[in-house]
Amino acid sequence: MSNLSLDCENLRSFITEQEINSLQEQVNLCHDRLEEGTGKGSEYLGWLHLPSSFSDSVAAEIVSTANSIRDSCEAFIVVGIGGSYLGARAGISYLSSSFSNQFGREGGPEIYFSGQNISSDYQADLFDLISDRDVCLNVISKSGTTTEPAIAFRLLKEIMEQKYGPEGARDRIVVTTDSSQGALKSLADDLGYMTFVIPNDVGGRYSVLTPVGLFPMAVAGVNIQELMEGARQGENSYSMPALDKNDAYRYAAIRHVLYQKGKTTEILATFQPAFRYLAEWWKQLAGESEGKDLKGIFPATVEFTSDLHSMGQWIQEGNRNIFETFLTLESSRRQLKIPAFQNDADGLNYLAGETLDKVNEKAWLGTANAHREGGVPNLTLKVKDRSPYSLGQIFYFFERVVAMTGSLNGVNPFDQPGVEFYKKNMFKLLGKPGF
Ligand code: PA5
Repeated sequence: MSNLSLDCENLRSFITEQEINSLQEQVNLCHDRLEEGTGKGSEYLGWLHLPSSFSDSVAAEIVSTANSIRDSCEAFIVVGIGGSYLGARAGISYLSSSFSNQFGREGGPEIYFSGQNISSDYQADLFDLISDRDVCLNVISKSGTTTEPAIAFRLLKEIMEQKYGPEGARDRIVVTTDSSQGALKSLADDLGYMTFVIPNDVGGRYSVLTPVGLFPMAVAGVNIQELMEGARQGENSYSMPALDKNDAYRYAAIRHVLYQKGKTTEILATFQPAFRYLAEWWKQLAGESEGKDLKGIFPATVEFTSDLHSMGQWIQEGNRNIFETFLTLESSRRQLKIPAFQNDADGLNYLAGETLDKVNEKAWLGTANAHREGGVPNLTLKVKDRSPYSLGQIFYFFERVVAMTGSLNGVNPFDQPGVEFYKKNMFKLLGKPGF
């Protein structure tokens, strides 16, 4: 059962079916290269069949470790950056209450994130917050050498060892890293930390469906079996080459046609705060995968209706180099209705009795049509609900979309050579040996 659907109505005046379908042969070629591992970056294709190869033993290990953390810890800190962090944060935000850290998580811990910046104040504020909490930690790094999480982990490890002693800290630290290489792997082996493995053939931003994303989500109480079932459905639906049967490839083809027509920026627009980090995850997935060799769609995100009062003006009347993808939710978990006011002082009585979902839907439709009329091609990806099943499908859908768009554009969607440039400069400035 597919919980995702594409609405392409507002593309009609910008691109034709013929233009999309003319890419079928190229899509077939890229698809074969992906499936046969003969294209660029073929050493990182493990994500393609993660859902169908997900083993019960890995699931059981993730769930039992997560449950013991849920039982014993008040605060759980996820340390990681980029692909080693955004998937977990996206999933937890998508599936949890907007205020879950304030409410408690059905007996589970509050969840915090660290290692995504080098801010002294952020880190110090986190230490203040956790000083009276019982803390557990998951440090995630495939390379095991990334500066930001490594610094955060050093600081947190020291605090935890002061608080619990080396043995107590060891029992509260879980490492997710490469099976055999890297500084974090050596540290985990030396100090005896519980360790989850990131498969060798899965790159950071395609790793949400490995313990990188699944373990923190399980600690947050997410049903990871249901999530993987949704991802499996995604794998079935989005692994066919035919553009009229595979919405992920159809969307990739649409993105490619629009890009070739000069629409070089894609704005992913959401209408739910719960989707904020899903949009951030998408931005990183698309940005690092597609932006290279002086090519690539620039991925941007906005959150409506809030950003209609900020970026709305630019989108309606600014430079016409953009297209927009709306990510909408078909049904909220709870339906709130607008109450009537006795004297209709705010003039809103015409909406009395309507649900907020209905108003939000009209906001989407009104915006989508206004932007189309303003010269912004747009399409909508509709998600049925905020269930783990739907989320698993979304993750897999976007991974296929981005891998295909990058392949159509002739780049390697699985490397990120450009990221090294800032690191080299920073290391040189910091006096790191060898730089
Ligand atoms: O997608 C990627 O490969 C990157 O965003 C990495 O996930 C990020 O740089 C973190 O790398 P690591 O897991 O090695 O610390």
